[in-house]
Amino acid sequence: MIDLRSDTVTRPTPPMRRAMAEAEVGDDVWGEDPTVRELEEETAGLLGAEAALYVPSGHMANQLGLYVSVRSGEEVWAHEHHHLVGDEQGATAVLARAQPRLYSDGVAPSDELLESWIAGRGDIHRAEPALVWLENTFTGRVVPLSEQRRVTGFAHRHGLRAHLDGARLWNAAAALDVPPAEVAAGFDTVSVCFSKGLGAPVGSALAGEADTVLRARRARKMLGAGMRQAGVIAAGALYALRHHRKRMAEDHGRAAELARLITERCGLTARAQTNMVLVQTPAGDGGRHAEAFARHGVAGLDIGDAVRLVVHLEITDTDIEAAARGVAEAAAEL
Ligand SMILES: Cc1ncc(COP(=O)(O)O)c(C=O)c1O
Repeated sequence: MIDLRSDTVTRPTPPMRRAMAEAEVGDDVWGEDPTVRELEEETAGLLGAEAALYVPSGHMANQLGLYVSVRSGEEVWAHEHHHLVGDEQGATAVLARAQPRLYSDGVAPSDELLESWIAGRGDIHRAEPALVWLENTFTGRVVPLSEQRRVTGFAHRHGLRAHLDGARLWNAAAALDVPPAEVAAGFDTVSVCFSKGLGAPVGSALAGEADTVLRARRARKMLGAGMRQAGVIAAGALYALRHHRKRMAEDHGRAAELARLITERCGLTARAQTNMVLVQTPAGDGGRHAEAFARHGVAGLDIGDAVRLVVHLEITDTDIEAAARGVAEAAAEL
């Protein structure tokens, strides 16, 4: 089976395992794990931030980003398909107790929408807006930096904060051929994942100003996620950060090739967006297609009107050829 469900399925490579086995460690709750500190400093440096905090998951990095910027009952403005909204088990309501206000179109809210949402501010009936949320990449799509700047500029002009869910920020930076700091620029907090396209086994980070990150560090402890000799896993993330960022363009190239082969050979329409290929299906038919693909050795994810195939560091050119063949066989059956 060629596993293209997600870029989270990768296993640590032999040199990454060696780096983990040999990591210098200490008690990170007391700030004494040198490997965690190195990872946090290097991540902050790459993102142009003052500080960063290593956390177990992207979910937690996002929730801490929310928690440090929103008081109970305040609004976070987000897209209905952002991970924060649909994939974090309602944590937005449980932890920060924020009120999401959602849009459905595009990869960023339009000026008209932002103006209309801010216009109601101060109305006694309204929740107070506090935070604007973006995600880059967003289902594989790169959000243009001009769009990010338009939205963060608006947020700051109106005294709101801005968060970037950068679970795949490294892919966005590679696709745009810019340093990661350029993608992170303008946001008060940024979450990034080491365990997706970078291929580390565990962990994410939240970056921002030092006092913001200190508040997140306290909240992480409050939630019981203070980690002790976490350098063992942080070493995998550090290895990935140093050695795997440069190879992201290979994943993007393979995704583009897979989309091309599927479109040319299978009678299906496929679009590649960074490391994700979306194979279009009739409305609501993603499940039936994903099952057929799996019968022919290709594991993908049903996302409703498409099957998502994600290219990652375990996928070779031979796998791409084989996956296209599997999809062609499945398509002939459908
Ligand atoms: C855009 C985005 N944000 C956040 C997350 C959460 O990351 P984790 O699975 O590490 O909690 C994911 C996971 O797939 C994601 O795709």
